[in-house]
Amino acid sequence: MADVLSALMKICCIGAGYVGGPTMAMIAHKCEDIEVTVVDLNEERIAAWNSEKLPIYEPGLEEIVSDARGRNLFFSTAVDESIAEADIVFISVNTPTKTYGTGAGKAADLKYIELCARQIAKVSTTDKIIVEKSTIPVRTATTIKRILSSGNSNVKFQVLSNPEFLAEGTAIKDLMAPDRVLIGGEESEAGQKAIQTLVDVYARWVDKANILTTNVWSSELSKLTANAFLAQRISSINAISSLCEVTGANVDEVARAIGMDSRIGPKFLKASVGFGGSCFQKDVLNLVYLCEHYGLHKEAEYWEQVITMNDHQKKRFVDKIVKTLFNTVSGKKIAILGFAFKKDTNDTRETAAIYVCRDLIEEQAHVCIYDPQVPAEKIYADLEISEDDPRVTICSSAKEAATDAHAIAILTEWDEFKDIDFKGVYQSMLKPAFLFDGRNILDRGRLEEIGFEVYGVGSA
Ligand code: UDX
Ligand code: ADP
Repeated sequence: MADVLSALMKICCIGAGYVGGPTMAMIAHKCEDIEVTVVDLNEERIAAWNSEKLPIYEPGLEEIVSDARGRNLFFSTAVDESIAEADIVFISVNTPTKTYGTGAGKAADLKYIELCARQIAKVSTTDKIIVEKSTIPVRTATTIKRILSSGNSNVKFQVLSNPEFLAEGTAIKDLMAPDRVLIGGEESEAGQKAIQTLVDVYARWVDKANILTTNVWSSELSKLTANAFLAQRISSINAISSLCEVTGANVDEVARAIGMDSRIGPKFLKASVGFGGSCFQKDVLNLVYLCEHYGLHKEAEYWEQVITMNDHQKKRFVDKIVKTLFNTVSGKKIAILGFAFKKDTNDTRETAAIYVCRDLIEEQAHVCIYDPQVPAEKIYADLEISEDDPRVTICSSAKEAATDAHAIAILTEWDEFKDIDFKGVYQSMLKPAFLFDGRNILDRGRLEEIGFEVYGVGSA
């Protein structure tokens, strides 16, 4: 392995998405002497990264991109050239759930990872460290290694696992001060040297005590396990939310009471309309598939319940709307506030809003949607409808969506929804006025005072 720290180090990241873009921007921001190039096949995405309007919305991202772009941070479609020149190549491409063949609906589709490995093997003429950043099933490093060894036999590769734990909406904060950085590598001398090279990059701004090194398999499995535990907590509190609704308990009060037990802790106990995002469902299903693959059927069933519960929660929310509106929403205007899977992101992958809107459309409602960051064309694409479909209207403000609606449903916890002057909306609204708060962010008492019937998740 070349002594990459003695010369100007070059990093190439394949994949300019929600993970690759912000992570590389942070490395470039913190390490001015490292040249970082993010490459992607998608020309439009790269053009956006090079423009004033970045392809992803993330608080604080613009500032760090504009600090480093053109200095030591570059976005490019020259994939082969950038790989060839790099000392370290991060693989940060998408690993969606497989939709075909063996493992369809559960296993991760590794075709993009495989393609990257083949591309690296084809164009490399110097030794490189290859870093798995994308979430992948355990033992993917073996596959990557095998593919890499099919290339130029004089070139040596070390494969590291360095999963990303950032959450969207807080990506910059998470990258700036991560709870931990996890790096897995081979136990051989060359493996340990590669681990150290990557540790030295992160150690520029992360306390060494928070940089954890393990073997490759532990690192790969830790990422899936972390996401499965987080998703499981949400499904657990959502299961309790149904019980609260029928017993008169309040789920937020229960969450506060149990969260004060230091063994449980207060985070990730917010009942909701169901979790979304590109990771939780995919990673839990991936874990289910892995368990099945190794014949661990009870373990697979156990984890699958996390997804069953999440699907049930989304459906329960729509059922509540229909039931409350006298068992029919046909021809009724339903305002949907928020379409992103959580606040402070424009990402809609697996957002509960898609399922809720589709079910309401199926029930023949007139669905009026507003989200501060998600473009109209993305919403139409997610709902698989054309822009002139009369069943859906995309609005440019929350007030426009809510005015004269029969019911309002809050599906994303955007801060601006807490400040809407619902009194103004109510005045021009047909009565009765129902508000379904899928995120429990509104002041219920204040809204009831002005005449709304408010339904939160997990309270009577
Ligand atoms: C997650 C992990 O948190 C992150 O570590 C990993 O790298 C990627 O997957 P992300 O999906 O971006 O991050 O967001 P997260 O904050 O985890 O939220 C996921 C979903 O769970 C959202 O829909 C959110 O609204 C929901 N959620 C979260 C709840 O419903 N209740 C909670 O208490 C917390
Ligand atoms: P994530 O949320 O994991 O970052 P995204 O889907 O946002 O996932 O981003 C992954 C990116 O990887 C996409 O922009 C896609 O075009 C890119 N990509 C996938 N395969 C390749 C490849 N072989 N070469 C270059 N870019 C790729």
